[in-house]
Amino acid sequence: MPWREKLIIALDVSEPDYALELVDKFGEQIEIYKVGLELFTSAGPKIVEKIHKKKKKVFLDLKLHDIPATVVKAAVAATRLGVYMFNVHASGGLDMMKMCKDAVVELCLKENLQKPRILGVTVLTSMSQDVLKAELGIQHSLNTHVRHLSALALKAGLDGVVASGHEVSKIKNHCGKGFIIVTPGIRPSWHPPDDQHRTMTPKQALREGADYIVMGRAIINSDNPLKTLELISLEMLTV
Ligand code: C5P
Repeated sequence: MPWREKLIIALDVSEPDYALELVDKFGEQIEIYKVGLELFTSAGPKIVEKIHKKKKKVFLDLKLHDIPATVVKAAVAATRLGVYMFNVHASGGLDMMKMCKDAVVELCLKENLQKPRILGVTVLTSMSQDVLKAELGIQHSLNTHVRHLSALALKAGLDGVVASGHEVSKIKNHCGKGFIIVTPGIRPSWHPPDDQHRTMTPKQALREGADYIVMGRAIINSDNPLKTLELISLEMLTV
């Protein structure tokens, strides 16, 4: 699969018109767009329909984290929107993830809908080992924690996880090659990490075995997003 088919662009903007302008700008080059908290809370579910009308797939990145009954209802709504993927926090626990997956499977069978891929968010790429220990009180290593949450997501029947490039090979070894890994925190070599801690270049992350990589600011906040995409393509060939 060409690498651009594995690239998900994060539409982290609040203006729906601008988000759609970006989708038009990338045209045939990009297949999947991530709609996250900023765009979804400013534009509502209509933005998902509008992106679908442009024949693009949507990764709905709302990172659901609540009691099982509430997550189930949001998951059902996301499925009815026809998104390609959506995610829940794996730290919401086994019951929450399992009930979410069961409800989605049941709905899809009953209403003959396409089943979205459901991913578990492990540890945010903006978090470091120190923060995990000092602020969240998690004593074991970040790698162990990511592996643990990935195994829990697998046990719940989810399709994969969101994790940094640094954990990809360990998760694949533990959960199997078919377990999807979506990797944010991606930065071309020339770009600062911003608030992300566990970053990787696109080439490194794909080499590690990430199934999809997510890029937001490095592309959409650049002066010329199309040119930046070209520069990243060059880096894919050379670095
Ligand atoms: O701008 P940048 O490329 O850092 O954007 C990364 C995107 O991926 C953001 O939309 C962020 O919400 C999302 N994300 C993340 N870490 C996760 C899950 C999602 O950065 N673990």
